[in-house]
Amino acid sequence: MKTLEELFEHQLKDLYSAENQIIEALPKMTEKATDTDLKDVFENHYHETMEQKSRLEIICRELNITPSGEKCKAMEGLIKEARNFISEASSEEVMDAGLIAEAQRVEHYEISGYGTAVRFAKELGHRDIAKRLQITLDEEYEADNKLDKIAENRLNKKAIG
Ligand SMILES: [Fe+2]
Repeated sequence: MKTLEELFEHQLKDLYSAENQIIEALPKMTEKATDTDLKDVFENHYHETMEQKSRLEIICRELNITPSGEKCKAMEGLIKEARNFISEASSEEVMDAGLIAEAQRVEHYEISGYGTAVRFAKELGHRDIAKRLQITLDEEYEADNKLDKIAENRLNKKAIG
């Protein structure tokens, strides 16, 4: 890897692999969530993630690169951790709290990845691509915010109960 363009391409492939892994993992997380708001957030983010995946495919086509072929090891680790957690959680309370924690780790990884990708795209003069990556970045922030709110609600309910 010699040029920023190559590094940018690598970032896109990494994100593409991450999105694919998330698409594979989210249905299980949705199924395991007991809070209906949490289920909704997961479900909604599943559809958003499909869009994000095709957004990356279009960008890669424009740049003449294949999006597949790399495995994002960091996401692989995060999802492995989530799967382990799901198999170990033995109460509804623990399940929801833990799913939120695992999902936020995933979102934060994506936020840093897309944040970098947007900056690289700008630096390389790909203004339109930067704008589209920014849409995804905003969606990831929004998903993280929603998870924050659900986590806060859980805390408030606890305080009342
Ligand atoms: Fe995503």
